Amino acid sequence: MTNHRIDDELRRAIGALDLAGLRARFVEQDEFLFLPAFLPAPVRAEWTKALAALRPHVHRNFVPGHKKGGSVDFDTLSRRAPAIRAVYASPAFLDFLRALTGAPLGYCPESDLHRCALYAYTEPGDRIGFHYDRSYYRGRRYTVLIGLLDRSSSRLAYRLYTKVPGRPPVEGAVATPPGCLVVFNGDRLYHAVTPLGAGEERFMVTMEYVTDARMNPVLRFVSDMKDALAYFGFRNVFGGRLRLAPPR
Ligand SMILES: [Fe+2]
Repeated sequence: MTNHRIDDELRRAIGALDLAGLRARFVEQDEFLFLPAFLPAPVRAEWTKALAALRPHVHRNFVPGHKKGGSVDFDTLSRRAPAIRAVYASPAFLDFLRALTGAPLGYCPESDLHRCALYAYTEPGDRIGFHYDRSYYRGRRYTVLIGLLDRSSSRLAYRLYTKVPGRPPVEGAVATPPGCLVVFNGDRLYHAVTPLGAGEERFMVTMEYVTDARMNPVLRFVSDMKDALAYFGFRNVFGGRLRLAPPR
């Protein structure tokens, strides 16, 4: 399926949504929205095919006490699963996200391997503890998650209003079926993924959009180290850049 066709499918699906209603819910939930069914069926079918091409490229990682799972970085995903990259890059999808969030969203720079990536939960106990998706950029960072496959009892658990003074937090948890959509401001939604059970698996696509893609070099380094240690490995994060270093 061409990028153009994927964009058309998304434009049609988005056209059928009650955008004003979704925007109101997004604002009311302190910049968080969950839609159990979003991705059009033909695109979902392309994604399912793409998963087979990505499975051999999952990089496993483990942060004691916090996180266990696997990931595929943007460059690998881009080469092996163009139908996933096409949704990230779709103009119709970006327009929708701008309207939903009311924020002047743009893409992350090419150096950010996290801008569109795959999370793989495939072994018992795979999970991630409660955290914010902190923005290392000068602008705000919005996280978009789209379900790819879910044969699991894992839940996306969240706590709303943790940064709203005087408002008691509200907890929730949702299953993330294929094609579901999650959109939130990474600095405001406190969230986790509950542990995978035996014989289960769960794959999610994560995307990142920002209101200002500039980042100071120290934070760039912190962000890269986090990606290397917790997600994609040093070779994937720093490999290409080290080759570009001038000879001494
Ligand atoms: Fe997160």
